[in-house]
Amino acid sequence: MIIRPRRLRRSEALRSLVCETRLSVSMLVYPMFIREGSGIEEDIVSMPGQKRYSPDRLPFALERVISSGVGAVLLFGVPEKKDFFGSEAYNDDGVVPNALREAKRQFPELLCITDVCLCEYTDHGHCGCPRDDGGIDNDASLPLLAKSALCFARAGADIVAPSDMMDGRVGAIRTALDAEGFTDTAILSYAVKYASAFYGPFREAAGSAPSFGDRKTYQMDPRNRREALREMKLDLSEGADILMVKPGLPYLDVLRTVKDASPVPVGAYCVSGEYSMIKAAAERGWLDERGAVCEAAHSLARAGADILITYHAPELARWIASGNF
Ligand code: PBG
Repeated sequence: MIIRPRRLRRSEALRSLVCETRLSVSMLVYPMFIREGSGIEEDIVSMPGQKRYSPDRLPFALERVISSGVGAVLLFGVPEKKDFFGSEAYNDDGVVPNALREAKRQFPELLCITDVCLCEYTDHGHCGCPRDDGGIDNDASLPLLAKSALCFARAGADIVAPSDMMDGRVGAIRTALDAEGFTDTAILSYAVKYASAFYGPFREAAGSAPSFGDRKTYQMDPRNRREALREMKLDLSEGADILMVKPGLPYLDVLRTVKDASPVPVGAYCVSGEYSMIKAAAERGWLDERGAVCEAAHSLARAGADILITYHAPELARWIASGNF
């Protein structure tokens, strides 16, 4: 007798019946960029198909996102004015709080997550405060990050997502939120975030490239996997409600490691470089966009992602809903 694995691959109906991984629209989060001004929808050159929206234009874009079935967005701010301390990151009248209030007023059911970091708001582009010697001052950065998270919570964020990789920031943010009564605002920690070249297109989108040095003294070394467990445990002990691994596809082993050890939901962030690589190749006719995106999404889910953060979220949601994935 021959054992025939091919017997279960005979038709799409059969393959779907026995498949081990299932994507769902409810796991998708769509990242969006908010810039200053009004009446603006500006193309992001490094990320074809993605735009920067002024706060007043965001609701129109959200209508399209919501109609695709996606129920959660991750908002990034791109302020006009950047300074040493990133003060627009904790301005109650800043781009993200303004956009957030409008989004929540029009779409109260939409889950709004805000990225908490300084790099989009500082003139030096680092995620924390530089010292005179060029190093990044961990502990001086914590109160600023906590202030930013509070500012977003006040404007209606359901979840705040610190992406700075300073030690102790989850605890500092939790303490600040609780002290002002925001005990229900959840923290999605970019717990396992690597110093990655795949953030390149994002830095153009947010104008957040560091003006000197790099992020290797705070983001993780791509050569490390076990260290992910250390970062994960620290963030859990400080009160993280959801963990994230970032980037996605190049770190599937890390994602599986974190998932197996995590008592809380785990997200994977399919970052800008992953998006733009597929877009660029698809534009040249070198690969099939839908096929590549769905395969990558299944791989991330197979490796343990409960939540998938991707710039392809609206398209992916439509493909999932139509059964064409
Ligand atoms: C802010 C932040 C970055 C990303 C998410 N939050 C950039 C960075 O760390 O340089 C990258 C997201 C992407 O590439 O899609 N710290």
